[in-house]
Amino acid sequence: MRRPLVAGNWKMNGSRNSIETLLEGIKRGMDSVQQAEVAVCPPFVYIPLAQKELAGSGVAWGGQDMSIESSGAFTGETAASMLLDFGCSYAIVGHSERREYHRESDEQVARKYMAARGAGLKPIFCVGETLEEREQGITEAVIARQIDALIDLDGVESLRDGVIAYEPVWAIGTGETATPEQAQDVHAFIRARVAAQNADVAEGLRILYGGSMKPGNAAELIAKPDIDGGLIGGAALKAEDFLAICRAAN
Ligand code: 13P
Repeated sequence: MRRPLVAGNWKMNGSRNSIETLLEGIKRGMDSVQQAEVAVCPPFVYIPLAQKELAGSGVAWGGQDMSIESSGAFTGETAASMLLDFGCSYAIVGHSERREYHRESDEQVARKYMAARGAGLKPIFCVGETLEEREQGITEAVIARQIDALIDLDGVESLRDGVIAYEPVWAIGTGETATPEQAQDVHAFIRARVAAQNADVAEGLRILYGGSMKPGNAAELIAKPDIDGGLIGGAALKAEDFLAICRAAN
């Protein structure tokens, strides 16, 4: 049995005050969350606050990105070891906003994944197609290319106990969610792609859905056999909404 994971990607939102309130709210509501593993990914500068608030709470925290490099002259970058220094368990890699606005290539994302795992973090490997790609009927080809970049570089074993987030770009922040069937189709495709190389790794792989997931649609999505939780943007910024999504996995 795969334990569901619900992770909040706070993106570039919040202030010291609002983040303290959000962290307290999540911590307070955790009693109601029975099944899901819960994690939050605040902006880097607020990670020490997350560590202070969440230590011992059962909620994990992580970064929204990280460097391929381990240290040195890389202005503006944050190394995996630095995230570990502040108690992070997770790091999101290859979010579509990084791929689009920072031109991160499939290979760079794969290398980030390797760097995170090598350092002892649990990377959340994001994949997903744009609206244009879906309309062209190449969704599966795009997802396959993104996943194969990792498998080619680091082997299928790199996905053992791993986490992939399927985030259709057209569903991110748009209010338009993939239907549970659309999402399940792609999740099943991802698992089959990995299973073709190693069935055991595929069975243990957690595949999260992301893209306008909210309290109203979370239960239906998570009920699908290959949807093992969510990566939540906007709805993760309100403790009550985020907790409701976490409870959807109960
Ligand atoms: P929204 O939940 O705001 O659509 O964002 C999803 C996302 O990008 C999570 O990484």
